[in-house]
Amino acid sequence: MIDLVRVSVFGLGPVGLATAVCFAAKGYRVIGVDSDPQRVRQLKEGKLAFFEPGLKELLKQSVRSKTLQVTEDYHLNAESDFSFICVGTPSNPDGSANLNYVRSVASEIGMSLRPNKKRQVVVVKSTVIPGSARRLVKPILIRKSGRKYGKNLFLCSNPEFLREGNAIHDTRMPDRIVIGSDENSAIRMLENFYLDFHGESTRTIIKTTFENAEFIKYASNSFLATKISFINCIANIAQLTPGADVRTIATGIGLDQRIGPRFLNAGLGWGGSCFPKDLKALVSLSKSLGYDPKLIEASILTNLNQRQRAVEMCKEEMGTLMGKRLAVLGLSFKPDTDDLREAVSIPLIRKLIAEGGIVSVYDPVAMPNARRMLGGTVRYSPTAEACVKGTDCCILVTEWGEFVKLQPSFFVKRMKRPLMIDGRRIYDASKFRRAGVIIRGIGLGASS
Ligand code: UDX
Repeated sequence: MIDLVRVSVFGLGPVGLATAVCFAAKGYRVIGVDSDPQRVRQLKEGKLAFFEPGLKELLKQSVRSKTLQVTEDYHLNAESDFSFICVGTPSNPDGSANLNYVRSVASEIGMSLRPNKKRQVVVVKSTVIPGSARRLVKPILIRKSGRKYGKNLFLCSNPEFLREGNAIHDTRMPDRIVIGSDENSAIRMLENFYLDFHGESTRTIIKTTFENAEFIKYASNSFLATKISFINCIANIAQLTPGADVRTIATGIGLDQRIGPRFLNAGLGWGGSCFPKDLKALVSLSKSLGYDPKLIEASILTNLNQRQRAVEMCKEEMGTLMGKRLAVLGLSFKPDTDDLREAVSIPLIRKLIAEGGIVSVYDPVAMPNARRMLGGTVRYSPTAEACVKGTDCCILVTEWGEFVKLQPSFFVKRMKRPLMIDGRRIYDASKFRRAGVIIRGIGLGASS
């Protein structure tokens, strides 16, 4: 191990915290800085404001062993070898990325470096539009620190690709590491840091310019989201074709090694804290540069329309939703998280209510967050069982493991009329039909 590695992580949301605890668990001395006093207080007590498998245990362990110090005081950063910027870059109303948090953290880091001359590499992990490291972060750091860039102050762009729900695994085992800088020595220092951190499991390290590194993140997320929108488009055509089923079609195309099987699960569309905002930011950047990115815009539009498919299927089966009792299973934007940011469930439920439906909801972990967003407009059920009981229709929105296991008899026994709208295609349609469930699914054409 490199001697006494000292690291600061600025921003202790899902990305920053996973990064901080994984570094701390390796034995590095980590200072986690966040400007929210309540968050800092909770983290010191080992409490998390969000759900992420395995993270709480690692947090408690690293706080107890004192490898992680959580603080609001950015001055403690002065002694660190590396400081990682992990703050959010939310959307502005016009879709462009809001870089205010990045700006203010860069300024804090710069000021923290004034008192001493110890060499530090600042690393931008936040998703920032290409050009931000060079044109925004670097000048702020130089101005606020009073240091000479390339001597005892360095900057790298190092986007992260971790998925919520898999944050620990993805931090420890990334498919690739991307490092961008205008200083080769900075790239070497960060490369050595990662070689030490990942050891033998280190995969490819791409060393490039700031801008390419920043771009790789946007292009990755746009590609993945577009891959899903593509299969959803195919699904919508398949659904109108008797005898067709998008699940088999996806398997068939995914076996082509040029395409690959992952991210071809058709459903009600993508959500979360990254895809929606990053695609919008790329569109905004592209337009500001004078190029009309029609493909990315089509991907966004396809996604926005996709949730409507569930409402359409309900209406096709029941005529009207007025006065109908509807169960919604799963609220989070995907399983293994309580995150409701841009989750399909929320606008879908609002639409069901607007159409006159009486909605009951259940999610294994996202219920508290759902209460904040949906208030008294729905009935909150303590279990899946209670949620579906006596309903006219059940819409499966998020493919949590506990829902995947449900057998057709679970619905037949409890529902007034066993109608299933499988929004994630987790159920075996013929098995459900044989057991007496009326089942409709995204991309599932009528039986031939
Ligand atoms: C994503 C990227 O995967 C990650 O690399 C980046 O750092 C952050 O954004 P995340 O938002 O956590 O991660 O979720 P991800 O697993 O990618 O899923 C995003 C959305 O796509 C979810 O709503 C999910 O339900 C949906 N999805 C995913 C599909 O509808 N079909 C699929 O086949 C895969």
